[in-house]
Amino acid sequence: MSGENRCFDTYEVGLKIGIATHALHYGTGALGGLRGYVDETNPSQAILFRLDRHCQRLSNSARYLHYDLPADKIQAITIEFVKQNKPTKPFYLRPFIYSSGLGIAPRLHDIVQDFFIYGMSLGETFAKPNGISCRISSWQRQSDLSLPLRGKISGAYITSALAKTEAYAAGFDEAILLNSQGKVAEATGMNIFMVRQGKLFTPGTDQDILEGITRDSIMVMAGKLGIEVVERPIDKSELFIADEIFLCGTAAKIAPVSRIENYLVPQVADSITSKLQQELVAITQGQHPDYQDWLNPVDLQ
Ligand SMILES: Cc1ncc(COP(=O)(O)O)c(C=O)c1O
Repeated sequence: MSGENRCFDTYEVGLKIGIATHALHYGTGALGGLRGYVDETNPSQAILFRLDRHCQRLSNSARYLHYDLPADKIQAITIEFVKQNKPTKPFYLRPFIYSSGLGIAPRLHDIVQDFFIYGMSLGETFAKPNGISCRISSWQRQSDLSLPLRGKISGAYITSALAKTEAYAAGFDEAILLNSQGKVAEATGMNIFMVRQGKLFTPGTDQDILEGITRDSIMVMAGKLGIEVVERPIDKSELFIADEIFLCGTAAKIAPVSRIENYLVPQVADSITSKLQQELVAITQGQHPDYQDWLNPVDLQ
């Protein structure tokens, strides 16, 4: 198990992976992705956001790959990694479980598996405060009949990559994928919410989405702000008449959508999206007493 690396500001991690690595060929890996912050009031402390949920999801992803890696073990390695690396800026951690054995033939048995983490400094990923443009992808979100969508399985991301590049080539920032039922699923690495008549709507966890941790955070935050949240299937055409749309994920946080295909999303003052954005910033900066259990402090000294 290689749970360390000392490089936060470059992708040039010290660990080398062989060209015959199984996961490289067959996508037999599972990833995590979590954010951390340096405590503004105490720079010798880092704060990891919803560490327990991220570790649990990664441990579940590992179970799909028949790799026994308990969440508390991932948590301990992650904390140790942050302590060793002493980040000085907002950062993102990428823990990765994968078939590290060399050889051909896709399978999950009789193959060596391993785990590593790398980290990078990460600010805003969509530097477009007024919103991003989205295309409805011609690629479909996979079905749970094809692969376990509750895990972040590395091979699954080919669909995201196809959709993202298709959208980019057509001049859009991001893609929205429909599921096999033709209902809205999610973006290439983010969940989706829409506002209609003061209520928040998002596809349920039976709609072939990833069970996003930011999605969960938003549902809790909205509830506490008195905003009703409804989980139900969403039609593509509903997005065209939504009052607000935003995407959410660990890297992007909350990304407002300003255009979907050739339909503009209204720009409203004092929007639900901006309320949730402000709330999330306050929470991650440790300014919100109600959410201290979402923050995991790590002493860097
Ligand atoms: C396919 C997909 N959907 C949704 C999300 C959002 O999940 P989270 O909020 O847990 O980062 C991600 C990001 O990891 C993702 O890769």
